[in-house]
Amino acid sequence: MRSLVFEAFGEPASVLKLVEARLPEPGADTVRVRILARPIHPSDLLTVRGLYGRLPKLPAVPGFEAVGRIEAIGAAVTDWSIGQRVIPLGIEGTWADALIAPQQMLLAAPEELPDTIACQMLINPLTAYLLLFEVLKAQPGDWVIQSAAGSALGRMLIQLAALNGVNLINVIRSRAGIETLKSAGATHIIAAEDEDVVARIAAIAGRIPVTKAIDAVGGTTGALLAEAMGYGGTLIVYGGLSLQPLPIEPARLIFRALTIKGFWLTEWVRATPREARQKAFNETLRLLTGGKMVPPVEAQYDLADFAQAIAHAERPGRLGKILLTG
Ligand SMILES: NC(=O)c1ccc[n+]([C@@H]2O[C@H](COP(=O)([O-])OP(=O)(O)OC[C@H]3O[C@@H](n4cnc5c(N)ncnc54)[C@H](OP(=O)(O)O)[C@@H]3O)[C@@H](O)[C@H]2O)c1
Repeated sequence: MRSLVFEAFGEPASVLKLVEARLPEPGADTVRVRILARPIHPSDLLTVRGLYGRLPKLPAVPGFEAVGRIEAIGAAVTDWSIGQRVIPLGIEGTWADALIAPQQMLLAAPEELPDTIACQMLINPLTAYLLLFEVLKAQPGDWVIQSAAGSALGRMLIQLAALNGVNLINVIRSRAGIETLKSAGATHIIAAEDEDVVARIAAIAGRIPVTKAIDAVGGTTGALLAEAMGYGGTLIVYGGLSLQPLPIEPARLIFRALTIKGFWLTEWVRATPREARQKAFNETLRLLTGGKMVPPVEAQYDLADFAQAIAHAERPGRLGKILLTG
């Protein structure tokens, strides 16, 4: 089988190699999943670059998410049969033709969802849902600011906010993304490259001080979100796409009572009781299968064409995820 392997951390185009490996045989209570599709997430590329919060032992195969079909099962496997379409849960190394998964680390892929959506139905949809409703506890009529609004996750936040009457102010980096974001349902859009972000937020929200914001960019953009917040606001930081530190004025924290908190889905899964996890997951699944939240796709590449796929994934102005298939 083919596997994308990296033996050192670095630029994905230079450290990732496509290698032939022996097809692994499942142990007694594991299954072998033939992978059908995987998204390229910023976290996958940060891992290859050695910049993610948790790093694998090398050599490693990247990839946090996928959909596949069971093609071999161990003798003690009772819950699954060959041919079932599944999502591996929390198993790294999806950028290969196949992987071995313990039987309890699989979820049945919903029939209604094609591979292009099923392969990205966990991380971003769940994070979008949690950020808005569990972390910020957004209510109908609330104002919320988000950065990186053109990302797959940002586009799902736009759908969720509209569905629940939350007023979302969407900050994107370039004016080029405005029209596509409008057609994705966004009402308030600010291009950080040439607009006064703080003044525009104040003009959009009017007399209402905005006290909820989520940032996936850091650097200047994250700092502008912090500056735009009203007294007692909360800024949730869940990504650092700019790879820049977040320069916040101490005065914001002292005199404007600003709270800044990080969010990491991995930590949420670890720290949240099973029942609460299941509730959030069921709600996300309901939104996905009902077509209310749709993870966007821009293009698909065969696993062998990973270098082009990664270059495409890092191009500005994408409309959706780049998938690795085959
Ligand atoms: N903390 C968590 O648990 C968690 C979970 C899931 C995702 N995330 C984070 O959520 C963010 C979005 O993920 P995703 O999978 O939705 O991403 P994605 O669909 O791959 O899109 C990323 C988008 O971010 C924008 N972007 C890239 N670099 C930027 C920069 N320097 N400044 C401003 N915008 C930039 C680009 O949009 P334009 O080209 O249109 O500007 C790009 O299309 C990532 O930071 C990811 O790590 C965090």
